[in-house]
Amino acid sequence: MKAVRYVAWGLVILVAAAAAAASIGWYTGELGDQNKTAIGGPFTLVDTEGNTVTEADFEGKPRAMFFGFTFCPDVCPTTLYEAGGWLDALGDKADDLNLLYVTVDPERDTPEQMKLYLSSFDPRIIGLSGSREQIDEVIKNYRVYARKVELDDGDYTMDHTASVMLFDADGNFKGTIDYREPTENAVAKLERLVDGS
Ligand code: NI
Repeated sequence: MKAVRYVAWGLVILVAAAAAAASIGWYTGELGDQNKTAIGGPFTLVDTEGNTVTEADFEGKPRAMFFGFTFCPDVCPTTLYEAGGWLDALGDKADDLNLLYVTVDPERDTPEQMKLYLSSFDPRIIGLSGSREQIDEVIKNYRVYARKVELDDGDYTMDHTASVMLFDADGNFKGTIDYREPTENAVAKLERLVDGS
């Protein structure tokens, strides 16, 4: 009788342990799902040399990501010019940051066009293009607004998110730098990002 009771208690403990393990699994699974719906995540794109790159190529360093297009009349050139100033202000810390410029207009912004365009800006800015599908995927996962606007002359322009997105070295979204945010604010945010605080 006593032995039976021990076995019974043993079963209760086993079931409780299994339930606890299952709930921990469920809990971490839930966190994983939340991460998937967050801003950011994997991408496959093409650099200015025509090489395929993924988010893994930029892991280990925080990154600032900006989305735009090379025919942009104002937001992109302003931001890319200012970004060069941020990198200068960061000094040596700029080595610990990846600054990515991703086109939302891959039909016109081929890797060659990206390279040509970025030659006017700080050479540390990394230009990324890709297929329409690759760009659509990164736009969706990074929750970027990008919309084609037809012009009267048959040409088109793009409306797009004007803020720079900041990610830590593990790819977690940490905030943004707004369009035309004062330089000292932008640099302070990037310093915090690089320092990991
Ligand atoms: Ni732009």
